[in-house]
Amino acid sequence: MPDVSPNDTADAVDRGVWSSKLGFVLAASGSAIGLGNIVFFASNAYQFGGGAFYVPYFIALFVLGIPVMITEFSLGTMTGRSFPMALSKVVGAKGEFVGWWSLGSALFITMYYITILGWAFCMMVGALFGLMEGGATAPFAPFLEPSTGPNATAYFFGILSSWWPMIAVIAIWGMTLMALLKGTETIEKTVRVAVPLMWLFMIVLIIRGVTLPGGTDGVMYLFTPDLAGIAQPDVWKGAFSQMFFSLSLGLGTMTAYASYLPKDSDQVNNSFMVSLLNCGFEYIAGIAIFSMLFAFALNPAGSTLSLSFFAIPQGIAAFPFGVKLFGFAFFFLIVMAGVTSAISLVEGMASALIDKLGIDRKKALLMVAVPGLIGSMITALPFIVDPGLAGNGTVGLNFLDILDHWAFGYSLLTVGLIECVLLGWVFGAGNLRAFVNQHSKLKLGAWFDVLLRFIIPAILLTVIVWNLVIDLTGEQLYGAANPLGFVDWFPVVIPILWIVGTLSLATYLTRQPSAPDPTESPIATFEA
Ligand code: ALA
Repeated sequence: MPDVSPNDTADAVDRGVWSSKLGFVLAASGSAIGLGNIVFFASNAYQFGGGAFYVPYFIALFVLGIPVMITEFSLGTMTGRSFPMALSKVVGAKGEFVGWWSLGSALFITMYYITILGWAFCMMVGALFGLMEGGATAPFAPFLEPSTGPNATAYFFGILSSWWPMIAVIAIWGMTLMALLKGTETIEKTVRVAVPLMWLFMIVLIIRGVTLPGGTDGVMYLFTPDLAGIAQPDVWKGAFSQMFFSLSLGLGTMTAYASYLPKDSDQVNNSFMVSLLNCGFEYIAGIAIFSMLFAFALNPAGSTLSLSFFAIPQGIAAFPFGVKLFGFAFFFLIVMAGVTSAISLVEGMASALIDKLGIDRKKALLMVAVPGLIGSMITALPFIVDPGLAGNGTVGLNFLDILDHWAFGYSLLTVGLIECVLLGWVFGAGNLRAFVNQHSKLKLGAWFDVLLRFIIPAILLTVIVWNLVIDLTGEQLYGAANPLGFVDWFPVVIPILWIVGTLSLATYLTRQPSAPDPTESPIATFEA
């Protein structure tokens, strides 16, 4: 069998390699654990009714999450290339196009992902100063009068309508790029500190949450199966989308990270380990958050962000002691978790540009960071368009909300669908499975082929078509419900910008001549 190891050639060393399996597991779990685990999981679980959500979510982990992660990891080790070039190597130019499209969407997602981290950063600093105290105001009708006690919602909108998030966004981009400066070497240094710290802070928060009077009621709510809720199709749709984002699938990151591993890595083992670490963290984050919600009878009505940005700090402000410290710890945790994910999102794109164009790392990082930072700045714009706060309030938050609806709502699942079809049907699920089984202790059976070829594509196609039907048959486009003055055209322009932008980028990059592939060997057809 021809050898396609990235690490058997002198050139491949320049791409970088993980110094140990631990380094890779920390980096990949750092990528997976992010805003999705803390902010979005808890919000989804609340919206869909706790116990109704985690059962579909658990099923999604085994039916979709782990098999797609095995596929994305194996693509990386099999080819030694980042996502578009790996797909190009196994299925040709159409695969490369899909890879670039996915990275284009990941760039849009990274823009606002970092803006949310910027807001969390401001709240983290704010926890040491005004967030936990009375007197919060914001230039929106509901918050013009100074609050008597702490008011996290007023504080948050006060931040949103200021220019501070711009500075925070620059700081987060700066941290992300520093961690990527020397590739795997600096990523590993960062995650060796950040990932254990995240776990430590989360454990402290759980202990605090469940020891609050009434805290365990929240845990019961989260884990008591709700059969009526499970029967609602929306819960399943929410669980499947959340699973993809949470495991960083369909974003090109996991293939890029796996491409720095030796070819004989056990990807079944790695996928189980990273997925279980991610979902374990998610569940314990859920315990911490739900125990606080129930202890203080908080109602996180409103947007996805409201649970973590309004309700939880409001609860922390009512702690009997350590208010500032716990407030700081909570947002520090969000920033840490988010930065290790942002690192992987940017690395997915930078490594692809390095592989494709043969440019050096600094140049590739610059090519990602310049448009990325501009996009983050736009989604942080503080101008108020909705002073009554009937909707999103500022230009930036409107932009972010609409972009998230389209880019997040469609790209990950669509990429997942196409990659399963390309690998399951064009490359061959049996081929892929044979490669995986050569190096794994736990062997994949023929059921894996059935999942990759039929079940996963069918599930993803159903969810995508269903979302499209809802979006295109509604009376208005997403985001058009609030009269917002000069940003009335946002709901039309933003989805067009995203789809035209990503498709043009994918077309342009696919057509560029590719730098030589240092791994050289063609992909083998593996014996089952
Ligand atoms: N997987 C990352 C998150 O959950 C992107 O935030």
